[in-house]
Parts: sequence; structure tokens; C-alpha cells
Amino acid sequence: MAVKEILKMGHPLLYEKAQRVVNFNTPELDALVQDMFDTMAAYDGAGLAAPQIGVSLRVVIFGVEANPRYPDVEAVPTTVLVNPEITVLDATEEGAWEGCLSVPGLRGLVYRPRRIRYSGRDPRGRPIEREAEGFHARVVQHEVDHLDGILYPFRLRDLHHFGYESELFPNPAEADEPAARE
Ligand code: NI
Repeated sequence: MAVKEILKMGHPLLYEKAQRVVNFNTPELDALVQDMFDTMAAYDGAGLAAPQIGVSLRVVIFGVEANPRYPDVEAVPTTVLVNPEITVLDATEEGAWEGCLSVPGLRGLVYRPRRIRYSGRDPRGRPIEREAEGFHARVVQHEVDHLDGILYPFRLRDLHHFGYESELFPNPAEADEPAARE
């Protein structure tokens, strides 16, 4: 379909609460999801939320393939999640560096609950329910935040741990985390 422009922090649509999807298995929803995958791939993202391409609907996609360069990072199944809900299973918070396609070039250290259950529907309306921890749980929480108008910089605790990726990680090959952008 099409690679869309990604809205950047400051655009008011990114701060809105997105609307629930009512109709499943429609050409419109399929087209939106295809545009999201095309856009995420073009920008080499780990996840994307519909509001980031200007559509205020509760649709997120995510997925990370196993990468031998980052053996410590688990793969995340490629998923379309519509009307997602999150339940925290372990509120112990872990900090990790995040990036966002709507905040290009920057990274921040964000603390989030380490283990969650998430549920929602696929574009056909079939239910999805999974438990996730670590990086998988982080990606899902980051994307669902987008649907509530929250960008990761809002969650930063210490602005010393926020800056340009090129300064924080001057040698990406030695970074212990992938340059995940969501
Ligand atoms: Ni993001």
C-alpha cells in the first residue's frame, strides 16, 4: 500500500486518546494495517501505533525477528493488536532504553512493569491473549501508551538519561541493546 509520514512529538493527534475499532474484517482496517507495516518496515521500527501515521484508532503493530547481533534480545512475534488491553502481572519495574519513530534520533531510559498480560483482537476480530515479559512486554506497553496519547519522554524519571542516540551510543556495535524504535 503505502509508506506514510510519521507524526512527530508536538503534533496534537499524538496526544489524543484514540478511538476503539468497531468494525472488523473490513477493507479499511486491512488497508490501515498494511500501511502501518509498510511504514514500520521503511523506518526499521519494532512497533507502530495508528496515531503515529495520523489515524486515531486503537490499532498497534509490533514484531522483532531474532538477530544474532543482539543475542540477549528475544524475538517478539509479529502481531496486529486491535483494541488492546494490558494487565500488569508483575509490577516490578525494569529500566531500559527506548526510542520512538515519533521522537527521531533520541533515546531515553524508561521504567515499566516487567511482566504483563495483553489482550485484544486481530483484524478479523479473533481474540488474542498472551503473557509477556522483558522486551516483548516493553514494546507492547510503549505502543499501547501511544493510544492513550502518551509518548515515552513523558515517563522519563531523570532527564540525564535522555538524549541523542549518536551521543549516548556512539558505537552501536558495542551497545548491549538494539536500536529499537517504536
Ligand atoms: Ni513510539
